[in-house]
Amino acid sequence: MSIDLKKVLKNKAINEWRLFWLISIPMSIVIAIATMNTDLSTGEGVSHMIGYSVRWAIPFIYLVVAASSVQILFPGPFPMWWMRNRKYIGLCFAVAMAWQGMFIFVVSTFLRDYYFKDIYYFRDELEGSIGYIFLAAMVVTSFRFGRKYFDPMQWKLVHKGGIYFLWAYPFSVYWWNLSYATPRPLDYIFYYGGFLAFALRIAAWGKKRKQAAKKKSPESSTPLALKTLGGAMIVFGLIASAIGMHWQKPISAFLTGKPWSAELELWLPFWPFEPFLALFIIGLGTMLVTKHRAQVETKIEAVRLTD
Ligand code: HEM
Repeated sequence: MSIDLKKVLKNKAINEWRLFWLISIPMSIVIAIATMNTDLSTGEGVSHMIGYSVRWAIPFIYLVVAASSVQILFPGPFPMWWMRNRKYIGLCFAVAMAWQGMFIFVVSTFLRDYYFKDIYYFRDELEGSIGYIFLAAMVVTSFRFGRKYFDPMQWKLVHKGGIYFLWAYPFSVYWWNLSYATPRPLDYIFYYGGFLAFALRIAAWGKKRKQAAKKKSPESSTPLALKTLGGAMIVFGLIASAIGMHWQKPISAFLTGKPWSAELELWLPFWPFEPFLALFIIGLGTMLVTKHRAQVETKIEAVRLTD
């Protein structure tokens, strides 16, 4: 007997709001039990719950980031189901983040000495607050009543910006954990999970670029030199992503060497972007690998015509 996956994945129990409740209710029960077993009268206890609740949230933001790319790279019933339910997966992320937000509220309101001595750091505060502003805007505009205040362009800006920002936050936390602390197994899982989610986006972007070029001129191809250089950059980026602990110190020292850069590091979220460098190199490599000769020739032709 063969199972019709397409049919199974259309089952109402695992779609849209029911999927949301199916995930968020058990998750909230588990977080509530952990809360009851934690001493919330101490800063350490609340801080533990801040970390605990956000660890529930992270897989969901990674799943949201990867959804459209998986559908482009591996079209099929399961990626389609994933993509269709992206909004509800995002709302599960928001539920876990609401728990984290509540613990942050508790520590910053009732345990102020601990908060300012052990937690408060201006740049982190700024990053975290921007994250929560994006999250709130994304949740509100996920519903018709909130969406009507935004035009499609603004909506896209809030959601794209928010998804990238809320992915970048945990991804960079775990990159730093691998780079200068003694990593826990979970740090590896969440770092590579975030890396994979974004790398899939780059790959999907490359695939679409290639398809668009082929459609425009079926004869076009990528020059060998670009292919080789791009391929080398992708391999280099992949290696760099795995050995951040070996280059973090000198690269950070170099990038923050100038006084203006050291100043920016105090308040500008993520500056100078060390966790993202490897992905940036992979993105550039993908751009070269998918740069078709016909595009280059068209540009040359256009320049000739305007001369
Ligand atoms: C102003 C807002 C925020 C404050 C005050 C804050 C505070 C904290 C604190 C105190 C911890 C340490 C918990 C522990 O001791 O284990 C922590 C961990 C963490 N936070 Fe936040 N946070 C904020 C916003 C955010 C946002 C928006 C995100 C994005 C998803 C985020 C992601 C994380 C991650 C990934 C960890 C590490 C969890 C782990 O231990 O594995 N935080 N945060």
